[in-house]
Amino acid sequence: MADYVLAIDQGTTSSRAIVFDHGGTIVAVGQLEHDQIFPKAGWVEHNPEQIWNNIREVVGIALTRANITKDDLAAVGITNQRETAVVWDKTTGKPVYNAIVWQDTRTQKIVDQLGGSEGADKYKAKVGLPLATYFSGPKVKWILDNVEGARDAAEKGDLLFGNTDTWTLWNLTGGVDGGVHVTDVTNASRTMLMDLDTLQWDESIASDMGIPLSMLPEIRSSSEVYGNGRKHGMLDGVPIAGILGDQQAATFGQACFEVGTAKNTYGTGNFMLLNTGTEKVPSKNGLLTTVCYKIGDQAPVYALEGSIAVTGSLVQWLRDNLGMFTDAPDIEWLAHKVDDNGGAYFVPAFSGLFAPYWRPDARGALVGLTRYVNRNHIARAALEATAFQTREVLDAMNADSGVDLTELKVDGGMTANDLLMQFQADQLGVPVVRPKVAETTALGAAYAAGIAVGFWSGEQDVIDNWAEDKRWTPDVDQGERERLYRNWKKAVSKTLDWVDDDVEQ
Ligand SMILES: Nc1ncnc2c1ncn2[C@@H]1O[C@H](COP(=O)(O)OP(=O)(O)OP(=O)(O)O)[C@@H](O)[C@H]1O
Ligand SMILES: [Mg+2]
Repeated sequence: MADYVLAIDQGTTSSRAIVFDHGGTIVAVGQLEHDQIFPKAGWVEHNPEQIWNNIREVVGIALTRANITKDDLAAVGITNQRETAVVWDKTTGKPVYNAIVWQDTRTQKIVDQLGGSEGADKYKAKVGLPLATYFSGPKVKWILDNVEGARDAAEKGDLLFGNTDTWTLWNLTGGVDGGVHVTDVTNASRTMLMDLDTLQWDESIASDMGIPLSMLPEIRSSSEVYGNGRKHGMLDGVPIAGILGDQQAATFGQACFEVGTAKNTYGTGNFMLLNTGTEKVPSKNGLLTTVCYKIGDQAPVYALEGSIAVTGSLVQWLRDNLGMFTDAPDIEWLAHKVDDNGGAYFVPAFSGLFAPYWRPDARGALVGLTRYVNRNHIARAALEATAFQTREVLDAMNADSGVDLTELKVDGGMTANDLLMQFQADQLGVPVVRPKVAETTALGAAYAAGIAVGFWSGEQDVIDNWAEDKRWTPDVDQGERERLYRNWKKAVSKTLDWVDDDVEQ
């Protein structure tokens, strides 16, 4: 009897494999970090082969810790860091270049050229996204333009592209030996190449970017059997039956199936998604229109998304680049040593500013400094930055949807931080609620896969399994709340217009 579903969560900082039981409870976890490669200012890469090796290892760890084998698995679901682009040779299985990560800003010139006189909104009506370095399409163009021989090989049909979901699926299902080259609608909606209405690749945009259609994976739903685990592999014969980009997976795992429900995930960056149902809502306030999920033959469900590039990674930056503490959670006791930020505001515009500004010319700034400010204030300012950025996105969400959210479901690593979550509730003015299973990303992918094979009957099972763990309610003076937020906005204004010809690499 297959009593479990396995989720593979190929994230920005690590890959995890998690075994879930029928109640949606975690049975066992395997997790390995991979290298963050920073060849130049603004460039961020991963090694796809290291990621694939880690995935195999974490699957082995998770199955071993759960004391089960592949025969106990009803299905496998995949979720992944979105937009991160891998290009590989289908005859050798080798990547032609490192994966270019979503945070990477090297494609700014390509993006400016593509926009031309029409500017950043050139493709927005079709793909729901402004032209920005964030998305995969321009990264693929960069690889074809800059890696020797890549364009010729691509035109001959030898190269394949995928976000890391596709790279993982292709390898899981056999690689050079019959690997399945498929992605799901949510990942495809982050490439800038998919038409949001037809859910197919847009030939004219692909042609503008010089990307041969033969490189692109087939676009399928988020919940169906794509293929089976490769022969003699650890998952031999197990159906791979769900794919959702990490943020859409978390939305699914948080049971946000009703129009108007939303979640906010606090990981490397922060991503708030609001379910808008089968209607695709264009944003007037700096949000993205994206596919939320599509179950089998059912109609696609869309979402509005507010993407913030740097939140948890600012905590990592204080840890790794400044050596302020040794473990990310330590930031909380540093911040607790002071009552406020001492006047310091930290705007982590390391990849420019994403939602709701979309300002590639911004760079990070720590402002308001005096002799009074110490490292505890800076720790606090770093945590507050996450909450202020989230408030900006929530304001945009409320403006776009015309309805004010009455509470916010949260998940991700930073929600372990009580000080941050209380400050967040205070800033938003609505309760912030965390579910019992905080690994909602992996959970959502497990549900998508389990629903496809009948292990779960549908969304109602997800709703029934969702349970509240903790709730933070606003408890702050209104005047103080607004004073802090006004200062934050002032701090943001100091980061703009930084990048010019003197700064460009
Ligand atoms: N107690 C804490 N306080 C503040 N930040 C924290 C805390 N614990 C973890 N973090 C931050 O949260 C992030 C990890 O969260 P999470 O595990 O959800 O991300 P992730 O899923 O690994 O990210 P990704 O999917 O992007 O790889 C890290 O950036 C880390 O710095
Ligand atoms: Mg994650």
